[in-house]
Amino acid sequence: MCGIIGVTGRDGCSRILLEGLRSLEYRGYDSAGVAVQTADGLVVVRRPGKLAELEGVLAEREPFGRTGIGHTRWATHGPPTQQNAHPHVDGPERVAVIHNGIIENHEALRAELVARGVTFRSETDTEILAHLVSERIEAGDDLGQATAHVAGRLDGSYSFAVVSADRPDELAAVRHQSPLILGIGDGANFLASDIPALLPHTKVVMPLEDDDVAVLTPDKVTVTDVHGQVVTRPVRTIDWDPVRIQKGGYRHFMMKEIEEQPAAVAATMTGCLTDDGFTIRIPALDALGDRLAQLERLTFVACGTSWHAGLAGKFFIENLVGIPVDVDYASEFRYRQTQAGPGHLVVPITQSGETLDTMVALRQAKQGGSPIVSVVNVPESAADRESDAAIMTEAGPEIGVASTKAFTTQLVALYMLALDLAGRRGALDAAALRERVQPLRRIRYAMEGALRHADAVRDVAHRYADARDFLFLGRGVNYPIALEGALKLKEISYIHAEGYPAGEMKHGPIALIDGDMPVVVVATPGRVYDKVLANIQEVRSRAGKVIAVCAEGDERVAAQADEVLEVPRVDEDLSCLVNVVPLQLLAYFIAEKRGCDIDQPRNLAKSVTVE
Ligand code: G6P
Repeated sequence: MCGIIGVTGRDGCSRILLEGLRSLEYRGYDSAGVAVQTADGLVVVRRPGKLAELEGVLAEREPFGRTGIGHTRWATHGPPTQQNAHPHVDGPERVAVIHNGIIENHEALRAELVARGVTFRSETDTEILAHLVSERIEAGDDLGQATAHVAGRLDGSYSFAVVSADRPDELAAVRHQSPLILGIGDGANFLASDIPALLPHTKVVMPLEDDDVAVLTPDKVTVTDVHGQVVTRPVRTIDWDPVRIQKGGYRHFMMKEIEEQPAAVAATMTGCLTDDGFTIRIPALDALGDRLAQLERLTFVACGTSWHAGLAGKFFIENLVGIPVDVDYASEFRYRQTQAGPGHLVVPITQSGETLDTMVALRQAKQGGSPIVSVVNVPESAADRESDAAIMTEAGPEIGVASTKAFTTQLVALYMLALDLAGRRGALDAAALRERVQPLRRIRYAMEGALRHADAVRDVAHRYADARDFLFLGRGVNYPIALEGALKLKEISYIHAEGYPAGEMKHGPIALIDGDMPVVVVATPGRVYDKVLANIQEVRSRAGKVIAVCAEGDERVAAQADEVLEVPRVDEDLSCLVNVVPLQLLAYFIAEKRGCDIDQPRNLAKSVTVE
């Protein structure tokens, strides 16, 4: 959740930290702070609120220092005050620490420190780290040893980084169930929670594994285990373009990312088409060999928007492959007696590849003997590294907290997974596969067509921006789209919204419908089209306002709806990719009209690395 960044060996360190925090701010924005080494010792500056507050203070002086750490906070222990902002320091202010995660035994450690006379200045679980590291340094440890020793005493999930005034060129850090990546530069080295924060400085990264302790100086990176044994971690080159983490003239990342979807979807297909372009073959799946032929069932595990993608995945796999599919919230899966095993494929779906619940579910299933195929966006993330195979969605960095292009690329990846499995298992013959690949290859153009209706969506959004509640209805593969439309609206406009399978409406939500309730109905052509039209009638009979997503020129729907959000006509299976676009736009324009902070909605964080 929180974002951490560190640099050693670059002039203008305070500015570099700020820039890094800007690209990490989507991980949390309750407060921000930096600790920078100077000739006069550590300079620590912290401010509650958005990064702009810290920026304002630091702007009063020239960028300074060559080594330091920075943090952007998503509050867990203690409210978002200046006192609770990171970095936290020890008594003499010679050690400063930033942390992402939750230290579960912090109360016991705090009591122990208090008994030794330590005075605490914050309510956080993090402050204990500064005091514990400081004590170890006093006892003669170097920074790496002190960090390793303290890590050995902690329960919970954490990545933390430390600087000490006694070692002005050094950073030490440890990873345990929270992401931490090193960036290897020329005469300077870096650490961060996420790859995008490193990209302006280096594309050469070293993802740390759990319980790795790293010590960085400008010329050297050393990684050991917590016992001080040196370990070797592979170095990778990331080919994401740093320009993609900039807004590029857009007011919000969310709109930029909505518009990037057609290209991202096309990029996700690259490399998964056979040479003749007629068959899907996902190279990563070759690693599973015969195991795919023996599958008896499949479970998707995911959170949030990625879980919605899983629901669409169920539709694809059950229809095309013919094996039973479950879709589980990762946070539920991990606390149930689930039946893992070689015939049960588990597919975690995760943009970040670091969501804690999803990772724990992945590890649990793996331990139970299930093959693991992840659908993941961030290369070298934990999900990528720990799966038997990873299908990479090529959305590139997604910065807006409300997920958009990660979702549609997940849908494409899952459709390709279904086609690939159907081919490998003989569930569909070559002709049937070919019939489905052609529309898939063209889907980006239909998504572009949907984006061309943005002005019409804005008009509708402005008419309904004051509504208190919204209902979203869809059936079949568009039921997850109704859920996703409702989630987008809730997340960024704070309007209460519910997504429901249209056929279930009469079992409850219909009681809510009156003249003040806009009901968004996904009513594009397909098996359930007539049923959905009947659902529209049910809403109208109760004076509800119908906003219908329908195919361009569909007069039957237009005649019955109060508003239409038109999209190009596509095959039913793929309609989810197109239909979600106007719903993303609707949420965006409503939030914009209401003056909401679209890229950083309150209380949310993009990457949820705590339980
Ligand atoms: C958070 C984000 C969502 C995301 C979910 C799962 O709630 O705000 O946008 O869908 O986490 O994240 P993941 O990275 O695992 O897909």
